[in-house]
Amino acid sequence: MTGLDSSPVDASPETLAALPPLTEQTRLEAREIIARYPVARSALLPMLHLVQSVQGYVSPEGVAFCAEELRLTKAEVGAVATFYTMYKRRPAGRHLVSVCTNTLCSVLGGQKIMDALSSDLGVHHDETAADGSITLEHAECLAACDYAPVVTVDYEFYDQQDVESARELVAALRRGEKPAPTRGAPLTDFKGISRQLAGFSQHPDAAAARAAVDAPSALGPTLVGLRLAEERGEWAPEMPRRSAPAPEPQQPVATGAPSGQTPAAQAADATVAAADNSAERAGAAGAHPDAPEPAGRRLPDGREGTDTPAGQEPGTSGQGTAETPETGRRIEGSFTPKRKG
Ligand code: FES
Repeated sequence: MTGLDSSPVDASPETLAALPPLTEQTRLEAREIIARYPVARSALLPMLHLVQSVQGYVSPEGVAFCAEELRLTKAEVGAVATFYTMYKRRPAGRHLVSVCTNTLCSVLGGQKIMDALSSDLGVHHDETAADGSITLEHAECLAACDYAPVVTVDYEFYDQQDVESARELVAALRRGEKPAPTRGAPLTDFKGISRQLAGFSQHPDAAAARAAVDAPSALGPTLVGLRLAEERGEWAPEMPRRSAPAPEPQQPVATGAPSGQTPAAQAADATVAAADNSAERAGAAGAHPDAPEPAGRRLPDGREGTDTPAGQEPGTSGQGTAETPETGRRIEGSFTPKRKG
């Protein structure tokens, strides 16, 4: 989601004085995030979520913190933080309520929901209720049009809402309750989900984390098209198969390059040599044209490859072959497989 918001980041003395500090623990966790990536600056997005998980928004201190850890300028960090609407410019409330007002949701009542919540809370888009409980925002399509109108709280889905159900939801949140989302993990709060987005569990123990992953889904509306196609005996035509392109002829080695090296390989050697640290060096080496193909991850059962192939696991979608639940007939094309449970 990108924003056209040009409002300034909140740097008022009152706000800054009330912020929880970014501690040594935050710094250690930031370095843990950085170590996950071959190129350090790739860690910026989760680090901004980490800052939000502590301070509730991307504060000036958070921008400086990320810049220092990643050896970027504050302008570079600020440019990223102000581009995405998930990074907040003012401290968010305990919960972030997002109302989809994009086309389908709006036609089915999304704008009425937004207007009602705005009136109840006494706030407009991207503002926080006076009691600090809720930040309200309108959102562009939340990729759940089959459940329109959709509201999310801390990015958890509350499907097929209307004005009354959304009002009840927000009233419960303000009373300190956490109504169960329609599907997916249990609700926590804005700082909790920010921590999750930084790549750390927000759950107190492994059992709670597992329960969140295994939380029930609701794919009825998503599968209506598949059911109708099944009833009518329709299926998508087979995808045309592409023949593999002919290999490029080998170019002669350019003058000046060491024997057997292309200019691209020579430039990649220079990038590896100029890397600032081992993580950047590993990233540059991985991008080298002479680098071997990655062997793939080793799965627990000893096989190699990815353990979540697109279109094969619950909750994923992609191009492939689906089996209709009723008859087992195979359908080729783009599909979302039925979830278990
Ligand atoms: S229009 Fe609301 S989820 Fe797509």
